Amino acid sequence: MTLKRGHLLDLESLTAEEITLILDTARSFREVIDRDIKKVPTLRGITVVNLFFEPSTRTRISFELAEKRLSADTINFSKATSSVQKGESLKDTIQNIEAMRTDMVVIRHSSPGAAYFLTQCCNSKVINAGDGAHSHPTQGLLDLFTIREKYNIIKGLRVLIIGDIKHSRVARSNIWGFRKLGAQVAICGPSTLLPYEVEKMGVDVFTDLDEALEGIDVLNILRIQTERQDAGYFPTLREYTELYGINSERLKRLNVGFTIMHPGPMNRGVEITVDVAESTDSVILEQVTNGVAIRMAALYLLMANEPIPSREGVLS
Ligand code: CP
Repeated sequence: MTLKRGHLLDLESLTAEEITLILDTARSFREVIDRDIKKVPTLRGITVVNLFFEPSTRTRISFELAEKRLSADTINFSKATSSVQKGESLKDTIQNIEAMRTDMVVIRHSSPGAAYFLTQCCNSKVINAGDGAHSHPTQGLLDLFTIREKYNIIKGLRVLIIGDIKHSRVARSNIWGFRKLGAQVAICGPSTLLPYEVEKMGVDVFTDLDEALEGIDVLNILRIQTERQDAGYFPTLREYTELYGINSERLKRLNVGFTIMHPGPMNRGVEITVDVAESTDSVILEQVTNGVAIRMAALYLLMANEPIPSREGVLS
């Protein structure tokens, strides 16, 4: 089976079978990145442009590593040192880069829909690495992969996403992905940080954290975007921490085990305490490791129907 689409833009439009194909392919690549020599010739001759208009540590390095592990040539574009500073448009930027014969583009942008826009004005395969508050599909996939590795199956698990759901592309990608694979998803946060009519996405909605935690297997704790405090979404960080912060005392009261996830970057001591983040229940760094395998799988599957000279011996 191959991925019958030219781009990876969101998880909403992917079928459960396509998501499972990406996760299964990532498992093979996860084995590759654990080897001494972490490189295969799969994308030799292919050039990938990493077009990052927003800051990133995990996603950017993870894509670059994934491309290098697959033997692709990688180009890193940074807004700060580009002609965007002289007023060049996104369309002109990608068309000029593509004129140098590049094949794929990975884009992070603050505008929702930026990755879709690129598909309209260039011929490259496009991967969305986060577009505003809309979507972050590879983060959703690496979260699914990490949980499937731990439990073997996603169907029937109860997942709680905590925090700023309204501004979170990670929350949306998690909701689509976990629901498509049969998990039960709940969200919890201050009512000011919950999107209007979010229950239409098929999630249970809570504003009381202790109530929301009942019966949950997996906690995905979102970064509280401290800049939101000035916008009046919540009064003080201290109050947010008291009501929505995850700490070991709160979890111990329920007397059950949880798997702790966080997409990063973390505000230690705000949405999560250090002891929870570093506990044996935490899979936060495994998420990061698995992100490389997921991105290798996405890059590979999008090019799998294209003629690449080094196609044979994909994982050798
Ligand atoms: N999780 C995530 O997208 O992190 P970065 O912003 O560092 O890429």
